Amino acid sequence: MGNKKRIYDALFELYGNYIITDSYVKKWVTTVYETLEIHDNGFDTLRVLELAAGTGRFAERFVSMFQERIEEYVATDISYGMLHYTYNAEKKKLFSRIVCDMRDLPIKTKYNVIISNFDSINYLVTEQDLKKCFQQVKLSLSDNGVFVFDYALIEVGNSYAVGNSGRAMESRNFKVLQESEFDTETRTIKNTFFFTDKMGRESDFYEEHIESFFTISEIKRFLHESGLKAIKVYNFIPHLGHNSHRAGAETDQRVQFVVTHS
Ligand SMILES: C[S@@+](CC[C@H](N)C(=O)[O-])C[C@H]1O[C@@H](n2cnc3c(N)ncnc32)[C@H](O)[C@@H]1O
Repeated sequence: MGNKKRIYDALFELYGNYIITDSYVKKWVTTVYETLEIHDNGFDTLRVLELAAGTGRFAERFVSMFQERIEEYVATDISYGMLHYTYNAEKKKLFSRIVCDMRDLPIKTKYNVIISNFDSINYLVTEQDLKKCFQQVKLSLSDNGVFVFDYALIEVGNSYAVGNSGRAMESRNFKVLQESEFDTETRTIKNTFFFTDKMGRESDFYEEHIESFFTISEIKRFLHESGLKAIKVYNFIPHLGHNSHRAGAETDQRVQFVVTHS
């Protein structure tokens, strides 16, 4: 086994094939846009900041689908590898990107829409991490702006670990083996990815992703203590391709928070 830990750096190649397919991204985008239409306070144009945007697939699709309303779209992520993987001149016209930590945004501009997708907020593992991020959002959100993010609840953590541990995947450069374990005490899942090159040689690195699963009421409290307010929490089922319009419950798999300044 490799002994050097790399953060979100080699796995990006697998995103298209295994982790988030194109049709899933499209449904996810449609669902988020529908929520924005309900809650965007009638903004003529959208100035969007996306946190933890990964390879920018959501950004690309969102801007392409709703181009006429987008004034600006900035995709951010902590991983250079993720953000630059598929970035090219064509995409440069659609959105810009900044490599940064969502707990410490190097951003002075205000945005009327801030979004984060595909369980990225679950990557903030402690209460302190979440509050740091929410305080940054507070600083970057315009007065009547809206912050929309999805959040996977404990049910997903448990079933994901059971379903995906031992999964073997293949990317352009690597064969990848995933091991997942769920810790019921800390309510965290640890996904470790081991890489072997096409010649069968083990890489000297591995990737470790930790996600935590707080409850809806805990997240509401962290938002409140950061000067924000959850005005809606929806049950979020992205593969439906539309907003469920049902209030989220702690027993749901995934929910979508709609947040404003308090
Ligand atoms: C599950 S992926 C989702 C990526 C993207 N939102 C999408 O829909 O494809 C989680 C992403 O969170 C990023 N990430 C994890 N911790 C982060 C942090 N503290 N700040 C910014 N990005 C982070 C990872 O690099 C990764 O791209």
